[in-house]
Amino acid sequence: MSLPLFESILKITVSCSLCCVSCWFLLQNWDTVSDPPSRTVMLRDKRDDAHLRARLYLIIWRAWISQGLWTRGTLDSCLIQAGAQCVKVCFKSGGKKEILDDNLNHVDVCFFILQMLMSENKMMFVHVYFREGNEPGDELTVTYRELLQRVCQFANVLKSQGVKKGDRVSIYMPMVVELVVAMLACARIGAVHSIVFAGFSAESLCERIMDSQCSLLITAGQFHLRKINLPRRSPQEHWEGAVPWNPEVDLCWHALVRGASDECEPEWCGSEDPLFILYTSGSTGKPKVGILHTVSGYMLYTAATFKLVFDYQLDDVYWCTADIGWITGHSYITYGPLANGATSVLFEGLPTYPDVSRMWEIVDKYHVTKFYTAPTAIRLLMKYGSEPVQKYKRESLKVLGTVGEPINPEAWQWYYNVVGERRCPIVDTFWQTETGGHVLTPLPAATPMKPGSATFPFFGVVPAILNESGEELEGPSEGYLVFKQPWPGVMRTVYGNHQRFETTYFKKFPGYYVTGDGCRRDKDGYYWITGRIDDMLNVSGHLLSTAEVESALVEHEAVAEAAVVGRPHPVKGESLYCFVTLADGVTYNRTLEAELKKQVREKIGAIATPDYIQNAPALPKTRSGKIMRRVLRKIACDERDLGDISTLADSSVVEQLFQNRCCTAV
Ligand code: PRX
Repeated sequence: MSLPLFESILKITVSCSLCCVSCWFLLQNWDTVSDPPSRTVMLRDKRDDAHLRARLYLIIWRAWISQGLWTRGTLDSCLIQAGAQCVKVCFKSGGKKEILDDNLNHVDVCFFILQMLMSENKMMFVHVYFREGNEPGDELTVTYRELLQRVCQFANVLKSQGVKKGDRVSIYMPMVVELVVAMLACARIGAVHSIVFAGFSAESLCERIMDSQCSLLITAGQFHLRKINLPRRSPQEHWEGAVPWNPEVDLCWHALVRGASDECEPEWCGSEDPLFILYTSGSTGKPKVGILHTVSGYMLYTAATFKLVFDYQLDDVYWCTADIGWITGHSYITYGPLANGATSVLFEGLPTYPDVSRMWEIVDKYHVTKFYTAPTAIRLLMKYGSEPVQKYKRESLKVLGTVGEPINPEAWQWYYNVVGERRCPIVDTFWQTETGGHVLTPLPAATPMKPGSATFPFFGVVPAILNESGEELEGPSEGYLVFKQPWPGVMRTVYGNHQRFETTYFKKFPGYYVTGDGCRRDKDGYYWITGRIDDMLNVSGHLLSTAEVESALVEHEAVAEAAVVGRPHPVKGESLYCFVTLADGVTYNRTLEAELKKQVREKIGAIATPDYIQNAPALPKTRSGKIMRRVLRKIACDERDLGDISTLADSSVVEQLFQNRCCTAV
């Protein structure tokens, strides 16, 4: 069994900690043990297998945590040994980090995740990606060897343009293989990539370029800056856009690559050198928190979480439907899977094109074994019922994952019963751009699942729940989700603004990393994310989670999707304003409205009774499918000043909702 990254990490950590050897051995061993003739993870029929797996996870957990693969020390200051350097990260002093040894220049992410694999000849011809375009039939395959060659060629191109270690490079591209090539080429030469999701407006891109002081933009579109363009058709055809080709700043990818050598020496970096910057939206609509991740900790963490959370096996075909422009794509389309030598589907398309069976058609086409998507996609497909799913066999599927938002139990059940046919465990992975990788997550077939719960912390992660006064709550409780000690994948700073890092994540509750999410812990110790704290409502002095109300609404068979926001109320502080999208063929009327109100009252209690319910044939969403609650809040309050809505997928939805506002409480 090959575990290239773990081997490489070991090579550089072995002098620091002998326990690493035992952990690595356990991982190897674990693979062998969990490699019986049929490795299908069965929840029901293979209890023995699940039991064995759970025991092995326990052993790994003990080794990693008790002996400390990557963390040791007290809760005050934790040492992270991820790579050549030993770094002390201290949450008690606002996430301050200190590099404890000067064993520099031993890491190159690209080398570890691509070239180490090449040393095993068999990996050269392994497919790294099956790329599937939006149009069925638009497909291509790439092997690890081809990817390495293309990365080296492009790294040489970057060098020829004067890009050097530490320089920032902006990337603004759709889901094409060149996007991965560009990001890994940056890693190869120690440059810091800043990928901007291709759905963002030119203004948003500009803001991010300015903030990170990028010297180069790599794009498939057009922009006034020194840039390399990647024509998707012929150059002439492509450049008939709004911004004309400017030979003084524009360079053509294909022309540059044609003359470049496919050999490029890696640029060795320190473990704590920056790997990339990724901007998060922030809740104000003005984004610009440039999350900075560093080389070794991020690489180790994404590799380890990918391996364990998806139970990655050598013959798996893995598919994460996210866009690489978001953290999910960084961690679980590029770095994590590649570090494990995995084969993935790279999809640039819509789940409903050319029809609503597309996802399942792709699953059958490539025999996808591990499938990772967002609850919003599940709810979207659920609207069309089970028939489009059942048109395809999906026999290859073994593990299903979700990420990005709380999954309501109804969607979870549909995913489990219909998509996974009750045989695939669901890993509901909670994490953030800031955390780098999964922090609360089940381990498949080892953690008993509860629909809608991200279950327990990953190895090395220590969560806590705090009340408004910052006191830690014990046992079953609800409040602010925080983390007490760092793990290798945690962000190291906000690019160019460490003060903002301290203020955003450590000021509210000093000594803790504040996630900004609400969370409930039940009597069995399971963690349930209740939504962003900024989506929490305070009704008559009671904290209410919008996600909880939404879930109650969606449980009604007439409702396909719901979004709940707060509307100021003179007596109660806030009242509940609910937007509901109905299932196909259902008509909105007063009877239904009363039923929905009753349903929420019954599910949560009188305190959660909706004050307003609005029929919303569509909700305002970003191109990545996230509901823009900030816009809904404005609609609920009839405020027309919406701020930046450039990320909206369809802005006509907003006007429609304004016209049909509820003016009187139901
Ligand atoms: O509110 C949580 C929600 O998504 C937020 C992080 O968003 P972002 O940085 O864009 O990263 C998304 C992909 C990791 C969190 O603060 N979130 C993410 N995963 C879950 C979730 N909420 C509930 N359950 C999850 N599994």
